[in-house]
Amino acid sequence: MRKYLLEVENLYAYYGKAEILRNINIYVEKGESVAVLGPNGAGKTTLLKSICGLVETKGEIRFNGVEISGLKPHERIKLGIAISPEGRRLFPEMTVEDNLLLAGNGEKLEFVYNLFPNLKEKRGQLARNMSGGEQQMIAIARALMLEPKLLLLDEPSMGLAPIVVETIAEAIDRIRDELGISILIVEQNTQMAFDVAERAYILASGEVVKEGMIESLQGIERDYFG
Ligand SMILES: Nc1ncnc2c1ncn2[C@@H]1O[C@H](COP(=O)(O)OP(=O)(O)OP(=O)(O)O)[C@@H](O)[C@H]1O
Ligand SMILES: [Mg+2]
Repeated sequence: MRKYLLEVENLYAYYGKAEILRNINIYVEKGESVAVLGPNGAGKTTLLKSICGLVETKGEIRFNGVEISGLKPHERIKLGIAISPEGRRLFPEMTVEDNLLLAGNGEKLEFVYNLFPNLKEKRGQLARNMSGGEQQMIAIARALMLEPKLLLLDEPSMGLAPIVVETIAEAIDRIRDELGISILIVEQNTQMAFDVAERAYILASGEVVKEGMIESLQGIERDYFG
């Protein structure tokens, strides 16, 4: 039997009366990296927010076999769901370390500094003085301070040069391989998705229009990007 960490079934999401997601079915197995690809406005962020409990939804969301759609965001975090949000949402006037400490106590710092030694070196610097790639690392490290089982990543490649995207992709691989944390990444940057994920879903106008092993989707995604 497959070990599902996350199962989303027949999910609908709403902002007020506007229906943003329709009949979404996706799953993530334990130890898997899965991508959701889609153009601007497809509903990628709304999907991640639905999993975190930040938007109104209908349908089922199971985590480790437990139905969580009735749970509050902090209760979902406790179960092991953490997000690196779109746009990173750092506190620019705070240091790297203080940004991390917003998500967890000092005992967790060593854990994330082991993964990102670069952040340890620069822990006293203000977040705003860090490069785009480093800022993305901070956003991911902050999510890891929660010691999640599932890490949700909302467009970590945004605004980064291809070489930096590669570095972030390597970090995401290590999070999965060394820490055993499953990954659900949403992206417009197909290279990032192809670098880190084994399977992917293509989301367009709030619906999954294609899914499969990543190799089988290479090239196809262009049909859905405006
Ligand atoms: N707070 C909100 N209130 C009303 N509509 C919203 C809200 N947030 C998003 N939407 C709408 O929901 C749709 C999906 O938005 P969403 O942010 O999930 O897309 P996305 O795939 O993440 O896009 P992007 O790649 O630009 O980040 C869009 O049509 C958007 O206008
Ligand atoms: Mg988005």
